[in-house]
Amino acid sequence: MIRVAWLTDIHLNFVRPTQLSEFIETLWDAAVDAVLITGDIAESSDVVKYLELLDRKLNVPILFVLGNHDYYFGSIGEVRQAVEKLDSERTNLFYMSRSGPIGLTRRVGVVGHDGWADARLGDYERSMVSMNDYRLIRELAGQNKERRWHSLKAYGDQAARYLQTVLPRALEHYETVYVLTHVPPFREACWYDGRISDDEWAPHFTCKAFGDVLLETATQYPDRQVIVLCGHTHGGGQADLLKNLRVLTGAAEYGFPVISRLFTLP
Ligand SMILES: [Fe+2]
Ligand SMILES: [Fe+2]
Repeated sequence: MIRVAWLTDIHLNFVRPTQLSEFIETLWDAAVDAVLITGDIAESSDVVKYLELLDRKLNVPILFVLGNHDYYFGSIGEVRQAVEKLDSERTNLFYMSRSGPIGLTRRVGVVGHDGWADARLGDYERSMVSMNDYRLIRELAGQNKERRWHSLKAYGDQAARYLQTVLPRALEHYETVYVLTHVPPFREACWYDGRISDDEWAPHFTCKAFGDVLLETATQYPDRQVIVLCGHTHGGGQADLLKNLRVLTGAAEYGFPVISRLFTLP
């Protein structure tokens, strides 16, 4: 048996130094064998710094994906490159968008990808929501709504294609596979304030392409369990899409990072 902590949307750049120390102490006291993080760790200028800090202080494998905030004031391409370099330099840091399936135990494996809100669920064309992503991430800034729609779909498709390669491989080997991703892959998992997001928010809060691959692949492996961990909406909830496909969405509050859940794995 091993103990694993799941963190999401910890936004460490908004956390005061004393609270950061307390949070790291809480993680240390939890005596976990591994940590899973589902994105929004910090911002482009400091995400590497905080990952290094967590690695140094915790000294256990940290399996993570990035969220939209991790690209703020920077570029998706450059941040991914920097984090991939970190992954290759540090033996305990695993950027799941590149590392392929990782075995936590003989029976439990992990795969993941950042995902991206791909504007396919809800009503993108009528939605008046303008995420900070569309101003603060270089690849999306300056695009009009139509052009941005193509970009959002393309990032969602990229995540889905990656999942299509790694999830079946993991399900061949492990009875249970945890899938780490930042953006809820289903409308049913898109919790906000105790409710499912409406048509206005859903385009910016869900990654349908990723969800389609999850449904299709989980159906092909009815004897295996797929458990998706995600965040992004900061609202917590659970959705059972299939008998063997469960999605947990982690609640979060800026400035107050917590352990979303502790798992004991066989
Ligand atoms: Fe967040
Ligand atoms: Fe987010």
